[in-house]
Amino acid sequence: MFVASLLSAAFLSHYFHGVQVAKALTASGIYNSSQTPHDLPWNTYNYCNAPHVNRDRYLVYATIMMRHHKRTPDNLYPTENALNPPVGWDCTNIVQENHAAGSGKVTHETVIPSWHPFLSRIWNGTCDAGQLTAEGLADSVKHGQDIWSVYSSQLGLLESVNDIYIRTSNSDRTYQVTGGLLYGMDPSTAQSSVPFVVHTQPSNIDSLVPSYSCPKADALRNAYQSVPAWTDHINANQDLQNRLDSILGTTGLGPWSSWYDHFFDTFTSRTCHGHPLPCNATGTCVSEADADRVHEIGNFEYNYIWNNATGAKEYVKLTFGAMFLELAQNLLSFESGMERHRMRIYVGHDGSMIRLASGLGIKGPLKWPSMGSEISMEVWETEARQKFVRVFHEGTVAQGFEWIPFQTFVSLLQSNVHSNLTVQCA
Ligand SMILES: *[C@@H]1O[C@H](CO)[C@@H](O)[C@H](O)[C@H]1NC(C)=O
Ligand SMILES: *[C@@H]1O[C@H](CO)[C@@H](O)[C@H](O)[C@H]1NC(C)=O
Ligand SMILES: *[C@@H]1O[C@H](CO)[C@@H](O)[C@H](O)[C@H]1NC(C)=O
Ligand SMILES: *[C@@H]1O[C@H](CO)[C@@H](O)[C@H](O)[C@H]1NC(C)=O
Ligand SMILES: *[C@@H]1O[C@H](CO)[C@@H](O)[C@H](O)[C@H]1NC(C)=O
Repeated sequence: MFVASLLSAAFLSHYFHGVQVAKALTASGIYNSSQTPHDLPWNTYNYCNAPHVNRDRYLVYATIMMRHHKRTPDNLYPTENALNPPVGWDCTNIVQENHAAGSGKVTHETVIPSWHPFLSRIWNGTCDAGQLTAEGLADSVKHGQDIWSVYSSQLGLLESVNDIYIRTSNSDRTYQVTGGLLYGMDPSTAQSSVPFVVHTQPSNIDSLVPSYSCPKADALRNAYQSVPAWTDHINANQDLQNRLDSILGTTGLGPWSSWYDHFFDTFTSRTCHGHPLPCNATGTCVSEADADRVHEIGNFEYNYIWNNATGAKEYVKLTFGAMFLELAQNLLSFESGMERHRMRIYVGHDGSMIRLASGLGIKGPLKWPSMGSEISMEVWETEARQKFVRVFHEGTVAQGFEWIPFQTFVSLLQSNVHSNLTVQCA
């Protein structure tokens, strides 16, 4: 019952949003016929006979970009061990397989010996930093079920997981999330004798993280993080910085004082897993109120750096241009009949999501992209063979992206690609 109502909510939101907020693409509209001419968009304002929900439009292609699901902290305090409960982090409930096909099967477990000279730098237990947790894997399985429920069961786009092309970063957690998605979409994938292939790019040119170097972009970002629009918030929150430094032993460390990224990551990774906020060896804990301030500041910083700073859009073009090019090429390949897949899924990182949202112009302020954050770009075709794109951001149709002509969307992607990108990033 619960599942059924969720499904129908997703289904209705797909159809109703399209109609209620559809834009009249001609200024005046139709006033003299019930039939909207075929050379106009199906949802053109027609006073004689309004456009309405109907079966004549089909979802024909989709691209989804998402962030991996929840993980252990990516950042570590200098005295990490002392700032965790004695048990630390347990990853015995997620088994990581790592072997080349045709060789012995291998899994790996993290061990943290009590005698290790550098034990103070890591928590106790069995987890590495930045590792997908069993809870994160469970969220990815549910995400896969949700994709399947909408794009296969309801909208009929997918018949099998082989209709999907998946690209990830080079982080284990992105492959592991892919496995979770696949299992959620089709549990038989866990038994399949032929593993599903995910595609990656070499780290030095990977456009998804992104991880290709671009000194010009770095300089641009340094410049807009040196002006009052940025430094004011660092100064205004000095009391918070001092308090956190004193509790967490981070005083004077650049990566912890130049922004709130690391505090945000180390707090949310804990609280998303039901762990307490850190308490130091003498019993002082980070307060809920301070954690909330860090959440707010983290959201401000993400929006500033990747979206709202003067220069942020250019920074996104430089650092994500190669990815925008790939997305545009995928759509053109689909249009020309060369695409063999019905959906492409990209499993990336927060930096992938914020750049995509900013480059597309999704209405801000943008927040720090959540675990499992999703942007879905759907291509619909009308009976008259016109193609339109609809973009969903975190499950909701994005304002202004209800129903836009295919070519307009391709042009939007291309507008984020400098023709001389490699020269600019030299
Ligand atoms: C309706 O009006 C438009 C111009 O406003 C005209 O081009 C069209 O031929 C008219 N259609 C009919 C069915 O009269
Ligand atoms: C972590 O384990 C070590 C021994 O392995 C122990 O001495 C230490 O107290 C534990 N950490 C905490 C925070 O309890
Ligand atoms: C714990 O935090 C308190 C309050 O900031 C500080 O005075 C104390 O030195 C810290 N203890 C350790 C072991 O860092
Ligand atoms: C975006 O930047 C403008 C100035 O460039 C500023 O007035 C506005 O407050 C910023 N918005 C947010 C949400 O930070
Ligand atoms: C790259 O092209 C832009 C115009 O698209 C131009 O303004 C810029 O000077 C060029 N940059 C380099 C480094 O060639």
